[in-house]
Amino acid sequence: MNLVLMGLPGAGKGTQAEKIVERYGIPHISTGDMFRAAMKEGTELGLKAKSFMDKGELVPDEVTIGIVRERLSKDDCQNGFLLDGFPRTVPQAEALESLLADLNKKIDYVININVDKSILMERLTGRRICKECGSTYHLVFNPPAKEGVCDRCGGELYQRTDDNAETVQNRLDVNIKQQEPLLTFYETKGYLRTIDGQQDINKVFADIENLLQGLR
Ligand code: AP5
Ligand code: ZN
Repeated sequence: MNLVLMGLPGAGKGTQAEKIVERYGIPHISTGDMFRAAMKEGTELGLKAKSFMDKGELVPDEVTIGIVRERLSKDDCQNGFLLDGFPRTVPQAEALESLLADLNKKIDYVININVDKSILMERLTGRRICKECGSTYHLVFNPPAKEGVCDRCGGELYQRTDDNAETVQNRLDVNIKQQEPLLTFYETKGYLRTIDGQQDINKVFADIENLLQGLR
């Protein structure tokens, strides 16, 4: 299955992606995670991405499209993939269409996790992530059993540098502006499926599982 996860920052893309890849065994391709990994390694790509991410701006399309093109042509994407946080602009969506056509592939669904923007600030500023395994928690909505420690692997939890209130506000503004034309693009193509992201995390996943029934 070839899937795209869409949703504003904090809608729950990463949280649901963890569950989807575990259940269906497809690779998780998150442009945000790829940029953060490059930043950690201190590569040229990482340095470039950092200057945009720190301000909550989008990384330029040509850079982002380039890393996705490279990633999608790897062998492990033969039997499906889950794109998370890409595409985020109409030019990215158009580039993805032509990229997939070249690879003889097609998107099955674009899953839009819909959450009212009023609750996203609280979700993002309360988010904590495991340094070791990358699992996502929330101080209030999804707390670990022991404060500051990952349930899965015992790793230490940290806060993303772009999850401070000021940067979050800009991320939300930037992404809200891009979202509408992208939704229209995929609605017109017939790929778009919207899921209510304001339910409990497991209920959101149950709705995604229902949608994906029959795809395999
Ligand atoms: P990226 O890493 O993709 O960040 P984002 O889009 O801002 O999304 P988030 O990861 O913040 O949110 P999420 O939807 O995954 O939410 P999560 O599941 O963690 O991108 C970062 C940056 O990289 C961008 O700003 C940009 O600069 C750059 N970039 C990336 N892709 C790009 C692209 N294509 N083009 C250009 N630039 C790009 O959940 C959030 C919190 O809520 C967690 O604490 C979680 O526990 C909690 N939560 C989740 N679901 C629920 C629920 N149902 N109920 C209650 N709480 C919940
Ligand atoms: Zn962990």
